Order: sequence, then structure tokens, then C-alpha cells
Amino acid sequence: MNRRKALFLLFCASQLCGAAAAQTVTFNQQIAPIIYKNCSSCHRPGEAAPFPLLSYQDVSKRGRLIAAVTASRIMPPWKADTASYPYRDARTLTPAEIALIRTWVDHGMPEGSGAGAPAPPRFSSGWMLGEPDLVVEMPAAYHVPADGPDIYRNIAIPLGLREDKWLTAIDFKPSARAVVHHVLYFDDPKGQEHLKPQQGAEPGFSGMRAGASIEPLGGWAVGAQPHFQPDGLALPVAKGSDLVIQYHFHPTGKPEAERSQIGLYFARQAPSRTLVSIQLPPAFSLFSGLAIPAGEKDYVIRDAFTLPAALDGVSIGAHAHYLGKRLKMTATFPDGTVKTLLNITDWDFAWQDRYFFESLVPLPKDTRLDVEIHWDNSAANPRNPSSPPVRVTWGEQSRDEMGSVTLIGVPHEEKDLGALQRDYRLHRAAMAAKALTDAATRDKIRELLAQ
Ligand code: HEC
Repeated sequence: MNRRKALFLLFCASQLCGAAAAQTVTFNQQIAPIIYKNCSSCHRPGEAAPFPLLSYQDVSKRGRLIAAVTASRIMPPWKADTASYPYRDARTLTPAEIALIRTWVDHGMPEGSGAGAPAPPRFSSGWMLGEPDLVVEMPAAYHVPADGPDIYRNIAIPLGLREDKWLTAIDFKPSARAVVHHVLYFDDPKGQEHLKPQQGAEPGFSGMRAGASIEPLGGWAVGAQPHFQPDGLALPVAKGSDLVIQYHFHPTGKPEAERSQIGLYFARQAPSRTLVSIQLPPAFSLFSGLAIPAGEKDYVIRDAFTLPAALDGVSIGAHAHYLGKRLKMTATFPDGTVKTLLNITDWDFAWQDRYFFESLVPLPKDTRLDVEIHWDNSAANPRNPSSPPVRVTWGEQSRDEMGSVTLIGVPHEEKDLGALQRDYRLHRAAMAAKALTDAATRDKIRELLAQ
């Protein structure tokens, strides 16, 4: 066997044997479908990514970089490891797809014959889920200064609904994408929030809504993908409601004016089951005594909650700031079986998706949900915003920390809704009560309540 052949066989054994390596990989035949399906929704004008990937020219210009970021799984962005239940619309490439891109790049990126080449995807409107039923806009632009601390601001928008509606999806279009770190949506069924006096020169008012009685409708964050709730599920929005948006602005170094649009999608009819949200630890760990010593490489907080009734899991998401590293939720069934619902092993503040399960995940009564959150406050964490590291406690600024995993589900039987909500509130109240015995946490809660 000559040396070239031996090398080829070696390559073949280590990479992908046969078909793909042997025949020519071309853009039109193999690569375009991968890129159009997995990349173009963000890599197009007006979306989050910095350049388009909509043609042979777009892709071949950055071929080497594309091969590198797909091999390292930086792109497409998707932070959830494979868990016990598949996620809907998972943005992950198969090893074979990654290998095809590599082979194509290594062989000079041939375009291939135009015959049978797929057309670049067409996006009917700027909205990923199609034209919304209702589009509302911030009443005026919010001017974010070039620098200074992060800004939390509530902006209320009257929705003008003349009848009760059920929200099945919500999407968000920022005008100055770089400055909007994330938003949370709240519903004010009384429609009073937009009447609150504006504080200062900019629209809206400040203050945390974490303690408010209205459940968040969900949120949007950098890199998040909008989804329709499955199985006819939806969140009620009463007639006359205000949509209250809590913005987290992060100054970028230049002044920005943000005036976002929000697209709402309504269900045709009322859902028969009610969505509940189980966040562990509650209040993003406010009650968990979060205090990470400077230099601590693996600081852990855990929490657990046992379901008083059967729940069907719909979606799951995690939140932490720059020091968050690993976030995980498992479900231990009454028979001892352990399932992983979410496992993020390389948390990135920039990608805060909500992961929808492919189909509802049945969690029997007495299932224990366990969450563990790990933070890395060492100098070795490249995302550490402080050099040298400093002691970090709970707070709203992105240099402070928070952390939790939130499971959203529906009671398997609607009659159990009350029990699920009550037990979760009890769990939160018990943690809050315990936290109040700690002076530092007490001060923090007092500050939040005073806002
Ligand atoms: C959910 C949206 C989204 C999807 C899907 C997506 N990208 Fe990106 N991509 C981004 C954003 C946003 C950035 C800029 C990231 C940053 O600045 O940190 C980016 C950056 C990149 C970069 C530049 C990286 C660098 O280090 O400069 C490349 C190359 C890239 N994407 C390729 C791809 C490819 C190939 C795919 C599909 C396999 C893909 N992306 C899918 C949003 C996306």
C-alpha cells in the first residue's frame, strides 16, 4: 500500500468513511441545504447575526471560519446538551453534517452544477413565526447612554384588546439589538400600568417586578427563538390588559435608541389546561444566600421540589449571568428512575433559549425535581467580568449573579392546578422566610421592595 493510500484510509477511518469522502461535495448538492436549514434564519438582513448566509458567495467567503465554528459547535448556537427527552427545533448539526462542511472546505469549496440547487429560503416577513395577529410598539424610544450601569426599566403598552385572548406565542423585534440584553413580559389585566407617571426623561418607570402578583408571560433574550406553545396551550390575556415589558439594557459603548416592536399570536380558542412555571431555586436564587468568594472555581447552589400532582413538561430554560457555568434539572420518578430535563455544561450569557420538548414530558405525582447551578468565579473563567475576580453576590446588574432553571408545564389533570401552584408558592415562601434570617439577604429584599 502506498503512503497516500494509507493516509487516505487513516483519514477515512477517523472521519467519515466512504460515500461523502469519496464523491465530490459541492455547495449546491450537499452544503446549501445544511446552511439554509440551520443558519439562514439568523444569518440574514435584520436578524441577530452579523452577516448573511444566503448564497454560495456568502458561504464560501467564510468557509474556513464556518468549518471551525461548526466543528467546535459554537454555531449554530445551542447550549443544551442532549438530555432524556428531545427538544423541538433543536439547532444542532449531526456529526455527518459537520464532516461534510469540513470536507467541502478542504476540497476547495466547489459550487457544483446549478441543476437541482436549492433556492435560498424565503422569509415572508421579518417575523420568524410569520405575520403576528397583533403588533404593538413602545410608545417612544428609550435612549440608553454609551456607558454606565445596566438599566432595568418597565414600559407598559396598552394592547387595546376588546375581548379576552389567549396568547400562543410572542416575538420581539428590537430596533437597537446590541443594547437589549433581555426582556420579560408581564400582563397587567387591569390596564393601569401605562397610566403610571414616567420617571425622568425616558419612557417607563424602574423597579423589579419579581414580587408582583402577575406571572411573567415569558421573555426574550439574545439568541432566543420564538415558539408556538404546543397542544393548543396558551396564556390568558384579559381584555383591556396592558403588556408590561421589563427591559434589561446593557450599555454598549455608544448611545443607542431602542424602540421595539412586539408581535403577539393568539390561539383560536381557550386552552383546556393552564400553564404553570416552576423556577428552582425561586427568584433566581435570591433566597439561596448566593455569595461567591473571589477565585472560587466551582460554587454550587442546589434546590429540590416534589410535585404534589402529575405535571406534563412543556419547556425548560435557564438563567445566570457571566459566571454561570453548569445548570441542570433532573426528574427522579417515584420508582427511582432519573431523567435529565436540561443540562447546560458550558453556559453562555449570550444564548438564553427556552427549550421546548418535542412532545409533552409526563412527570408523575411525587416526582422530585432537582436543580444544581454551578458558578466559576476564578480568573480561569474567560467570561469573568472582573480581573482579578471579586466576591459576587445576588443582584440585577450583569456583574452580580443570579441563577435558576425554570420548568414550564401543565397539570396532567386540570383539577390539580391549585395543588401544584400552592405547593410551589409554599416552597418559595419557606425559602424566603429562611432567607429573612440572614441580614445581607434581608437588606437585599428590602432594597428590591423599596424600588
Ligand atoms: C440563532 C441565530 C443563529 C443561528 C441559527 C446561526 N448563527 Fe451564526 N451567528 C449568530 C450571531 C448572533 C453571531 C454573532 C456572534 C457574536 O458576535 O458573538 C454569529 C456568528 C457567526 C460566525 C462568526 C463567528 C466568529 O467567531 O466571528 C460564523 C462563522 C457563523 N455565525 C456561522 C454560522 C453557521 C455556519 C450557522 C449554521 C450552521 C450559524 N452561524 C447559525 C447567530 C446565529
